[in-house]
Amino acid sequence: MRAFVLMLFTFAMTVSCCRDCELSYSPDIIPYPQEISLKGGTVDVSGAAICMAEDLDSLSKEYIDAFASDLSKVTAVEQGTGRSRICFRMDDSVPSADTIPFFKENQNYSIEISGRRILVKAGGLNGFIYAVQTLKQMLPVQIYGTEPAPEADWTLPCCTIKDSPRFGYRGMLLDVSRYFSSVDEVKKFLDMMEISKMNVFHWHLTDDQGWRVEIKKYPELTEKGSRRRHTLVGHHHVSKEYDGKPYGEGMWYTQDQIREVVRYAESKGITVIPEIDLPGHMMGALATYPHLGCTGGPYEVWGKWGVSDDVLCAGKEESYTFLRDVLDEICGLFPSEYVHIGGDECPKTRWENCPLCQAKISELGLKDDQRHSAEHYLQSHVMKQVAEFLAERGKKVICWEEALQGELAPGATVMAWRRNKYGHQAARLGHDAVMTTRTHLYLDRYQSEDKKNEPLAHSSYLPVSMVWSYDPFVSEDKDAEPLTQEQKLHIIGIQSNVWREYIPDNAHLEYMVCPRMAAVAEVQWLQPENKDWERFRRGLDRMRKVYDIMGYAYATHVWDEDQKPQ
Ligand code: ACM
Ligand code: ZN
Repeated sequence: MRAFVLMLFTFAMTVSCCRDCELSYSPDIIPYPQEISLKGGTVDVSGAAICMAEDLDSLSKEYIDAFASDLSKVTAVEQGTGRSRICFRMDDSVPSADTIPFFKENQNYSIEISGRRILVKAGGLNGFIYAVQTLKQMLPVQIYGTEPAPEADWTLPCCTIKDSPRFGYRGMLLDVSRYFSSVDEVKKFLDMMEISKMNVFHWHLTDDQGWRVEIKKYPELTEKGSRRRHTLVGHHHVSKEYDGKPYGEGMWYTQDQIREVVRYAESKGITVIPEIDLPGHMMGALATYPHLGCTGGPYEVWGKWGVSDDVLCAGKEESYTFLRDVLDEICGLFPSEYVHIGGDECPKTRWENCPLCQAKISELGLKDDQRHSAEHYLQSHVMKQVAEFLAERGKKVICWEEALQGELAPGATVMAWRRNKYGHQAARLGHDAVMTTRTHLYLDRYQSEDKKNEPLAHSSYLPVSMVWSYDPFVSEDKDAEPLTQEQKLHIIGIQSNVWREYIPDNAHLEYMVCPRMAAVAEVQWLQPENKDWERFRRGLDRMRKVYDIMGYAYATHVWDEDQKPQ
């Protein structure tokens, strides 16, 4: 009898919830859900049965199946033999924040953990992914591993979670031109994006230091344009020394590999936006096809960093043909509605002295005015031509903020990188903008003020706390009027950029990204009024164990120092 009473008591503790006792305990979830109300009690999920509604799409079903199989592996209890059920139901009515106009599919989800049932509702794949990620963060960290851990406490606290992202676009840029990442390394990067509930992978595929995407019509682009003779040693502001080692042979993606990455990302709810940076940052292409430059070269794939005066000639018809051909193949490879067409750091020196560029300026009737030079308007012409061509293929363009110097292509989304105010300027003009402001979101910056004891990095300092404190609506321009509510809706998202000039290998890449990426995720996802630094710090303590289990390198400064939000 005693045993029976004890059994009943244990049963009550493990599978039932006390609905009226709200707890102050908060789980260590990053990004933290918008709304979470905890009740007393827990539900044991070992051996939980999984039920999925018929109308779930196949990717959602696969994703949930994978979670179920991970769960039975780590709990060492066969699925369906336990007492609880985890049910996934399609529900478009899960409330949608009005601040996420970017992706049409529903990214919201709700979770109800009570009695013996965990009920997950979402409007599609992304919502289910985010719900599963939240559940994983509430379970023992061994869920991220592959080893059975039956000794861990496989219970979930009874609670109700209602969650939706602050921004529809939550991106990470990876530069694979300066230094390359293999397909497996890119997948590992995407895995961390998945944990961070991010949904856009901005793949910076071409630049002065190497062209890294196969274009069937121009095979020399990767055969020749991916290789450089040598690479600068040290910081580009001070060093003139090179390593003497060729770099880049075979370091490019075949079209099959691109498709593989796109499919992998899709299964994790991540859209891949390719970037072909133009008309500047094109030495990889110009070294291969010198006739596309104003002077005709010779050019070489750069082994140094910085901004090249040599850019695509905007006066030659061949340049436009080349861009159309390349982008035509890019459109076939990437299902994303958006294509990033660069537009940053394009000096006008060559165009000013190029008879063909000047002839184009005359032909188009472009003139200097008080705001910009005729050459700026020539760049606008290039961007607009490309945008028009892509629009015919059903695509929209994103371009760096320099596109504001002149005239933006109709419907172009602006990616602000130097200052918030450029994103705001785009929003005031009725264009969408993604904020990637370098002071807070460029993860190539130092993580410590003690630079001597750090690997070489971009010169400024960016601790986790500063990333976490980022506010996309603050303007550097003190006299600027705040954005109106309508203008704010044009700020569709936030993205962090990982430029690779000083990040040669993958372990170093992870060191630069983890744990700052967790702070990015929280800024992208969580409404500012719901942020809490101390809670985020506890979440990082847990995330550190996840990095250990999943084999990510990471920087420890946030644990070694007493960082505070700023
Ligand atoms: C950039 O950092 N040049 C976009
Ligand atoms: Zn020219």
